Amino acid sequence: MIATHLRVNHLDNPLGYLLENPAFSWAVENPEHAEVRSSRLVVSAGGETVADTGWADLDNIACRPGLTLSPCTRYTWTVSLRTDDGRETTSDTAWFETGKMREPWTARWLSCNGDEPRHPIFIKDIPLSGQVVDARLYVMGLGVYDVYIGGRHVADEYLAPGTHAYDQRLQVNTYDVTEELSHSAHLEVHMGNGWWKGRFGFIPKDEGYYGQDWRLLAEVRVVYADGGEEVFGTGPDWGVKRSTTYASNIYDGESRDDTLPDLPVERAELLGDTESADAMERLSDRLSLPIRAHEIFHPELLDTPAGETVYDMGQNFAGTFRLHIDEPAGTEVTIQLGELLQDGNFYRGNLRSARAEYRYVSDGEPHVIEPRFTYYGYRYIKVEGARNLSAADCTGVALYSDFEMTGSIQTGNALVNRLIANVEWSMKSNFVDTPTDCPQRDERMGWTGDAQVFAPTALYLADQLPFYRKYLHDMALEQAVRDGATPMASPCFMLGTSPAIWGDATCTIPWNTYLFSGDPGILDEHFEAMSGWVDYVRGVDGDDHGWGRAFQFGDWLALDGPKGARTGATDEGFIAYLYYWRSARITAEAARLTGREREHEKYESLAEDIASWIRREYYTETGRCAVNTQTAYVLSIVSGFGSSAFSGKALSRALELNDGKLATGFIGTEFLLRALCEAGEAQAAYDLLLNEDYPGWLHEVKLGATTIWEHWNSLDDDGRVNTEDTMNSMNHYSYGAVLAWLFGLSAGLRPVEEEPGFRRAIVEPRPSWRLGSLACTHGCAAGTWRVAWRCEDEDHVVIDLTVPHGCVAELRLPLADETVYEKLGGRELGAGDYRIAYRTTEPIRRVPSVDWPLARLLGSQDTAPVLNRHCYHPDWVDADEAARKSVRELAGRLGKHGSALSPQALEALNRELLALAEPDPATTVA
Ligand code: BGC
Repeated sequence: MIATHLRVNHLDNPLGYLLENPAFSWAVENPEHAEVRSSRLVVSAGGETVADTGWADLDNIACRPGLTLSPCTRYTWTVSLRTDDGRETTSDTAWFETGKMREPWTARWLSCNGDEPRHPIFIKDIPLSGQVVDARLYVMGLGVYDVYIGGRHVADEYLAPGTHAYDQRLQVNTYDVTEELSHSAHLEVHMGNGWWKGRFGFIPKDEGYYGQDWRLLAEVRVVYADGGEEVFGTGPDWGVKRSTTYASNIYDGESRDDTLPDLPVERAELLGDTESADAMERLSDRLSLPIRAHEIFHPELLDTPAGETVYDMGQNFAGTFRLHIDEPAGTEVTIQLGELLQDGNFYRGNLRSARAEYRYVSDGEPHVIEPRFTYYGYRYIKVEGARNLSAADCTGVALYSDFEMTGSIQTGNALVNRLIANVEWSMKSNFVDTPTDCPQRDERMGWTGDAQVFAPTALYLADQLPFYRKYLHDMALEQAVRDGATPMASPCFMLGTSPAIWGDATCTIPWNTYLFSGDPGILDEHFEAMSGWVDYVRGVDGDDHGWGRAFQFGDWLALDGPKGARTGATDEGFIAYLYYWRSARITAEAARLTGREREHEKYESLAEDIASWIRREYYTETGRCAVNTQTAYVLSIVSGFGSSAFSGKALSRALELNDGKLATGFIGTEFLLRALCEAGEAQAAYDLLLNEDYPGWLHEVKLGATTIWEHWNSLDDDGRVNTEDTMNSMNHYSYGAVLAWLFGLSAGLRPVEEEPGFRRAIVEPRPSWRLGSLACTHGCAAGTWRVAWRCEDEDHVVIDLTVPHGCVAELRLPLADETVYEKLGGRELGAGDYRIAYRTTEPIRRVPSVDWPLARLLGSQDTAPVLNRHCYHPDWVDADEAARKSVRELAGRLGKHGSALSPQALEALNRELLALAEPDPATTVA
């Protein structure tokens, strides 16, 4: 038994992060299942103990000993465990180190001549006066920067300092440069335009939204072997070289001409006093995770029908590339990136105005070129101007924030597995410092609505608390200067105030992050923003329900709207009020959990007022929802409004009227399959999941998608782009929210509000004959959960379950009788590994026949039409009787005008029903 996986704010040995009142967490590796009696957390700095909890019953998911941190300080910490019988163990030592915090800077902000388009490289030979034994670099550069010391790249990080609300705060990164400075004292900071001064967002001009100048602030702090310390800051003694890169921005790419001559070194300019003071004020230690290179792709080289040279990475993703070029001096090479081929040829019409390219002029030397100040959403690279390229000359490099993957899921169906991989890739592609809508066209913005729809999926797959903390931090700052209104995207890049759902992200994302992490700190930090948003909506709503008339995005991209419209058919006010209610409730709960009693009462009573308005306006007295769409019934079911029995039936009916196909957009789709399960129609949920025709998840998989599409029909059946729509991304994660259903309802692993962070979890697996099997893992701060189910045969299932130390599973087994729980000793299982094999109370495989109750056959979308064809008005049979008696028993009344069905007719009907038996799993995975 030992404490492992030690994290501070869910970060592994973090250096220079904004930590404030840090939360410590650890898992307990405990194969012998010893009873841990108490734990002890000890934090030290400079050889002194700065916090010691003593032996206590500590919360290993979010333990806050209440530390007051000092800047630029390394802390070490350990966790000791003591068992019942007095045994003690101590973990390995973990550490964290603070950044500058609010410590004053000796460095001064630099800028440089902005009329010269060639990108600056700030340079300095640091006048070291001894042997360096420890060194840190504290740095903030705008737009984006790369630091080199003695030609070595410092930190394997791309696009620092990332994208954030630069008008609110400027993130300082801290690097350990001990190793680099012991070899060389020559420091270079290469600058690109990035999100700060390059075109970005819907800004009409080709210039930056946040700034127009390059800026740099840096301090190098060294400790010498003799114990002496020195600090070197940016100042007028720094120089500026010019690189051969003369254009860069996130959308258009980069341009570099290696034939350009060296220019004389300029003196760095000091930033004006006012701007400098203002920028100093906004400095803040980093929250952004580093953007790093992850998967590397080795492409195939295609010769397209149009004679183009195109590399195919085999996977759509966000990132960069490395291309080996060996061309005579002056050769111009143009590299373009795109997501698609059309008629076998390179295509990038769906990138809109984003040029997504790299232009290069060779100096005659061989080079491996790799863009540094941009990134692309792509699968294909077209190269023009270079000769004799081979497949080996190019590699693809996936870039995304360095979050920790903690979840996995695999099923018995190869298409579903590809869907899962597509969702993971859409997450990776859209987690480049900010949760973006897409990584390829001229958007790539932190659209709040998309982010909130996808958050539960992301939280199942990875430990996203640090990633969302940064996103929410910016969002809160942007809301604070907008009277609580959430911007449509964060950072906002000029976009206006969010409508419903998009704005509600400020409540739902921290709430889900809390549920998954178990750390109420995120609610505490974000509370002002949550309540600010709810107050803002309250203001717009006024005394005459103005929220229902405000501009809304509705059920974005739903298929049931008028042709050409994007907001779907569901009443937009209805959706807006349901989310307003949800946000008010979340805010009330967050207030309670963070000790804000008065606010708790205020938002609880507001939620009640909203609920009664919703009931009055959108439901009949008996609970029928007055909005007749799939999404309206879905939201009714999962929000608990109206009669669940009515909404369940109405949802089935709405699906039936639509040929059994979904018509939902971003909002309805998130909860569609869950609503069906809650309505007792798990089978119908699997039907939708496994449907291979348009519209559906597997449809795009069958058409070769390697990421999630923005539209259900981003490509038509022939693989042609949906040309009607200029908004057509192949890498938009919203519909990938189906993965949260696979984890939460198919595996059935769900967090419990009363004991969040998977301290207690519901385990309610829903085996499906057609899916065959499913196995998932989910790592929480306390350890790794594992749930797997397998259909052994038509009435035997096997469930494998691992409950991590300190956690409890609440079991809800499908089709199990009491004896199964009795053998397990109850419905609650503590830490351990379990195999639960049992015979089901009815077959898992669905084999409809005339021996089923009439009502069951009539209630099912596939069997009802068969019945209606063979029988005379079967729905005229009294409901109670139909529920109790089988078709065989009722056959005497199901013939023409109430006569008997002949034995031959009954057999014919039975044959047709049996033909609808669930097929065996279509494909299996090795
Ligand atoms: C984005 C969406 C976003 C929407 C807001 C689009 O351009 O790509 O995903 O949520 O705008 O309506």
